[in-house]
Amino acid sequence: MKLWGGRFRESESKLMEEFNASLSFDKILYVEDITGSIAHVKMLSKCGIISEEECICIIKGLEGILDDIKLGKLEISGDYEDIHSFVETNLINRIGDAGKKLHTARSRNDQVALDMKMYAKKVSMNIIKCIDTLMDTLKKKGEENHYIMPGYTHMQRAQVVTFTHHMLAYYSMLKRDKNRIENAIENLNESPLGCCALAGTTYNTDREFTAKELGFCKPVDNFLDGVSDRDYIIELLSDFSICMMHLSRLSEELIMWSTKEFSFIEMHDKFSTGSSIMPQKKNPDAAELIRGKTGRVYGSLVAMLTIMKALPLAYDKDMQEDKEQFFDAADTLEMCLMVMDGMISTMKVKEKSMKEAVKGGFLNATDVADYLAKKGIPFRDAHKISGEIVIYCEENKKCIEEMAIEEFKQFNPIFETDIYDFIDYNEILKKGNKSLM
Ligand code: ARG
Repeated sequence: MKLWGGRFRESESKLMEEFNASLSFDKILYVEDITGSIAHVKMLSKCGIISEEECICIIKGLEGILDDIKLGKLEISGDYEDIHSFVETNLINRIGDAGKKLHTARSRNDQVALDMKMYAKKVSMNIIKCIDTLMDTLKKKGEENHYIMPGYTHMQRAQVVTFTHHMLAYYSMLKRDKNRIENAIENLNESPLGCCALAGTTYNTDREFTAKELGFCKPVDNFLDGVSDRDYIIELLSDFSICMMHLSRLSEELIMWSTKEFSFIEMHDKFSTGSSIMPQKKNPDAAELIRGKTGRVYGSLVAMLTIMKALPLAYDKDMQEDKEQFFDAADTLEMCLMVMDGMISTMKVKEKSMKEAVKGGFLNATDVADYLAKKGIPFRDAHKISGEIVIYCEENKKCIEEMAIEEFKQFNPIFETDIYDFIDYNEILKKGNKSLM
């Protein structure tokens, strides 16, 4: 069922038909396609291009199709090239000749550009909601588990931080992710409808009207750009990739923290799986899947950058490839945000193991050096003395704070009993790093 058979003497090969068809994946755009068409016919009638009766009849027909799809009475399948052909052919079958006027002053090129922009906005707003939820959960989990834990650099225990602060690091990353997506939505918010195939139309249409009607701030400035722009897809895929990268880093930490070696957290059974052979195992599959799916979202970004890189203006069929990439990446990110939220909100945070790791990690060695420096010893010398104290403690199997004052004095007589308060972990957090609390 074609919209363009007139100029052809022979029909398309079955293979070509199958190769060309996008209905199996662009059917997801039916709401946007029908909403866009309704705005278009309203404009056609307002501008006197079709009659009011025709307009009412087309709108009724389109609304009927929308309802029937939603109610499951009309299945989107069959021998149609794409969702646009499906809706138009169905409309003509339902209402007859009036339906044939729907496509006046429009092309599938501006139609698909419009549908994709509207869909991209819709899913991006859902993703923002999921980011908001996860941000709240991270904050809440951090506040409920206000424990000290080792902070790491080079994967080596470095200085003391709180679990709260660690969770809030991801909160900050997600806040930037949200801003980026909001910004991309703002950038894409111009309507391509009315650009037609590439050069506008000789009809006296009103692009301002359709832009307003469909929630865009204005029509695009340039027709060629309007039908060929897929920047917003690339921009959103970049934003989704960065967000996935953040989720993947958090996943990596959750995986490490749930090992017996770290034992900082325990994943809830709801978000873990077992081994079919090793009965003792509880695997962090959810976190591993998020880490793995990050590669898949990056793949979509690289695919789109590559697809677009040599396309001459205006529309080229290559652009049909944007759909599966974008739909898959958006679905993946949304699902990963929800799973991450479930994992974080249900996991148990283990105060004792974190505290022990802090104690065994000489995480107050920097503070010993600071203590000496504050008493007038140049920091480089103080650093050396503190390093020697760490060797001594390692050899004698004790923490720095467990040393007697006499032991301290062997390294430097300047040490007094106020050293104990100075290197107490809670004091360190209170004193120096107020924002860690
Ligand atoms: N299925 C096409 C796409 O996704 C719709 C636009 C078709 N335009 C055309 N000139 N063949 O890009």
